[in-house]
Amino acid sequence: MTESKVCLITGTSSNLGINIAYRILKETPKSTNLTFIVTSRTLPKITEVITQIQKYAYDNVSDRTGQLEFDYLTVDFSDMISVLSAYYELNKKFKKIDYAFINSAQGVYSGIDWIGAVKEICTSPLEGVTNPTYKLQRIGVKSADGMGLVFQANVFGPYYLIHKIKHLLKDGGKIIWISSLMGQSKYLSFDDLELVQSPAPYEGSKRLIDLMHSASFRSLSKDFGIQQYLVHPGIFTSYSFFQYLNVFTYYGMLMLFYIARFLGSPWHNISGYTAANAPVYCVKEANERELEKFQPLKIGSATTRRGEEYLVREEVDTTGSEDVVAYLEKLCKEWDAKLADQIVNTRQP
Ligand SMILES: NC(=O)c1ccc[n+]([C@@H]2O[C@H](COP(=O)([O-])OP(=O)(O)OC[C@H]3O[C@@H](n4cnc5c(N)ncnc54)[C@H](OP(=O)(O)O)[C@@H]3O)[C@@H](O)[C@H]2O)c1
Repeated sequence: MTESKVCLITGTSSNLGINIAYRILKETPKSTNLTFIVTSRTLPKITEVITQIQKYAYDNVSDRTGQLEFDYLTVDFSDMISVLSAYYELNKKFKKIDYAFINSAQGVYSGIDWIGAVKEICTSPLEGVTNPTYKLQRIGVKSADGMGLVFQANVFGPYYLIHKIKHLLKDGGKIIWISSLMGQSKYLSFDDLELVQSPAPYEGSKRLIDLMHSASFRSLSKDFGIQQYLVHPGIFTSYSFFQYLNVFTYYGMLMLFYIARFLGSPWHNISGYTAANAPVYCVKEANERELEKFQPLKIGSATTRRGEEYLVREEVDTTGSEDVVAYLEKLCKEWDAKLADQIVNTRQP
């Protein structure tokens, strides 16, 4: 019987999101029927990304015999009603989802501290392009739902969607959370789990993802038969940061990335396709046996000086992980209650 896989990629319109789709097309068996559930906050981006994936399939994997189908969700994770609607759509249309890549992410950037950037890059070039601290973020930004905006968009919104669709992922589904190199413990205060007072909420949200994964993957596997993985894509060109760069600073940044790679940084993947190595590694059947032992680790996409890709598996500092999951579960219960009156049975006479 022909195998079929349904694959949800949140933030498919991003450089990483679309490259996850490309790699799945290229690296899963040619005969597998694939359905991509594409997400964006806007319909034009959904149309654009579907066209791009179709073109990629036509140009690069025309020998695939499996069907390629698309569905879509317009979802904004910083809006709980939108997340609930996404759940309804998925529940209505699908009996099973095989892979859920939680890739979408939002920052609250206000620009770049150019003086700080020059200082950081001149004094410590490798560190300056690997762990930059000169991207300015706004402090105290909340969503219309009253949560820390970045916390909700990057962590709780997707977590709540997973909470609602566990029955679709049950018995064999996989969840792949996209973290970051920047998910370091220094960016998270346990007094501010919603990252409202944090000067680095984006980095804090990635640390929360690491901790959430560490305290939840075992019970997801045991209670639901769902395998969850934590990955990071290294560093690559991001479409969303283009708005802060002009042609000179964009190529300047690109040049620094290549210099960093030449100097020995394993993380400067630069290409979205290489960055998608670790996420897609988690869904390839050939890796099934070794994946089990890597589940507690963070699997990173890395590259050699010459641009040859490889994977790096790293331990995660799990201090406080149970507290993070307890907080997210408490919020799920609160939002289940708050959203209960949104459930309208349209089939009732
Ligand atoms: N770029 C890097 O070097 C780097 C490094 C480490 C980790 N990462 C991680 O890799 C992933 C992809 O990064 P990227 O740079 O390719 O992404 P990006 O260009 O920043 O795009 C973000 C994606 O997330 C979606 N998104 C943003 N806010 C959302 C919201 N509130 N609700 C729903 N979707 C939302 C966007 O969708 P629409 O705009 O279409 O709605 C877009 O597709 C992210 O998780 C990022 O944190 C990136």
